[in-house]
Amino acid sequence: MARIIAPSMLSADFGHLDRDTRMIDKSAAQWVHIDVMDGVFVTNISFGFPVMKPIRNATSKFLDVHLMIVEPEKYARRFVEAGADSVTFHYEATNAARHCIDEIHAAGAKAGISIKPATSVEVLRDLLPSLDLVLVMSVEPGYGGQKFMDSALDKIARLRRMIDEAGLPTLIEVDGGISVHNARLLFDTGADVLVAGNAIFGAADPKAEIDRMLAV
Ligand code: DX5
Ligand code: ZN
Repeated sequence: MARIIAPSMLSADFGHLDRDTRMIDKSAAQWVHIDVMDGVFVTNISFGFPVMKPIRNATSKFLDVHLMIVEPEKYARRFVEAGADSVTFHYEATNAARHCIDEIHAAGAKAGISIKPATSVEVLRDLLPSLDLVLVMSVEPGYGGQKFMDSALDKIARLRRMIDEAGLPTLIEVDGGISVHNARLLFDTGADVLVAGNAIFGAADPKAEIDRMLAV
């Protein structure tokens, strides 16, 4: 299993986006997580295409875009054009999941689906062979700095079984309330990629915090 850390730029200092992205670029984190919110799918608005550019310009790391927007199929391709290496959309946000996956793949990026805390992993069973990653939310999407929900653990374990039984390479990513305190448990339960915002950007030494999370 992979052990990947994806710092969430939602917790970066937007007044110093270039500086913070370069800091992550020099860290041991393998991915950079980018949270896009539309104020409709979630009750918060973050940023859109223009903010992708300074991030893309400041790092060659894998840009992992997490869309918390309705009708993601309309915008997925533009996020790939803006530099996304993967585009993950919410299962709950569209009736056109297959079409959205196809759009992302046709644009040349990896495709992921995210599920909110109340959504069962079972809804993904038929889609799994087409997915490069599944993002399990361990908080209600919309804000950084929330408490990790233990109910995510059972979902990660179930998903791990589903993926392994089918012999698929699909990665499991977990997002929300993650820190050095639960990273080991999450990797052991079957997660491949851990997103962390507050725990990294709120640390006195973010790069050292990433090292600690990778060494659990
Ligand atoms: C929440 C976002 C997360 C968020 C995580 O809707 O999807 O990526 O930035 O932040 P922390 O790690 O602070 O919970
Ligand atoms: Zn996210």
